[in-house]
Amino acid sequence: MNLIVVEDHAAVSQTAAEVVAASITENADLTVVAATGTTPMDLYGELANRRRRGELVTSGWRVFQLDEYVGIPADDRRSLYQWMKCAVLDPLAIPADRTVRLRGDAADLVAACDDYDLAIESSRGLDLAILGLGPNGHLGFNEPPSDPTSPTRVVTLSAESIRSNAAYWGDEEDVPRCALTAGMTVLLSARHIVLVVSGGHKRGILERVLRGPVTPEVPASHLQSCGGCTVIADRLAAGHASA
Ligand code: F6R
Repeated sequence: MNLIVVEDHAAVSQTAAEVVAASITENADLTVVAATGTTPMDLYGELANRRRRGELVTSGWRVFQLDEYVGIPADDRRSLYQWMKCAVLDPLAIPADRTVRLRGDAADLVAACDDYDLAIESSRGLDLAILGLGPNGHLGFNEPPSDPTSPTRVVTLSAESIRSNAAYWGDEEDVPRCALTAGMTVLLSARHIVLVVSGGHKRGILERVLRGPVTPEVPASHLQSCGGCTVIADRLAAGHASA
């Protein structure tokens, strides 16, 4: 795991865009998982700017959805698919046939998760995972405890995740209780992982991710042993931590 500490959120997004661009020069045909949430939004904006300027080619990208609420159709504006479509797929011109959904609205959720893992396997794994850090150390919706061999699966959202997602749903009561998440196995075996973290509210959990014991209780702590992982954090989140 490499740590890059930069001044502020804008610098996190710029630096992450550079790390993404550098990681893909090796590979124009790219399998990518892209988180929603607040933190990577400006990074996606920066990648879209680079694409418009002709500095980034995304035509070979195949984008996998990281997580989805159970029971929410893909065309529901509150679905994570719609969020990903607006923030990632449309700005980066990724067509539907180069997108792999996590089908939270499927009748058979176990089959939906198996299909997803098979699609990743037949693409020879993920080249790039762009991730954010949950307030409880989750990656995707791999809530504590999640061990590094957790497959793609149905999960029950933690009280903390329900609280932090309430803003997008109007009220805590309205937040779906279950979700599908890409498993720890597929995320941790991505060839490049870019974890973006900003804001003082992430300082405590980031410290545990970087320096605490590697434990399923802090799922992101498993990144400590991932050579291809770059954590990009601003000073508020990182405090005085350095690589
Ligand atoms: C989003 C996701 C979550 C977020 C995390 C951080 O698809 O899976 O793991 O990345 O909760 O969210 P923000 O960036 O809003 O702090």
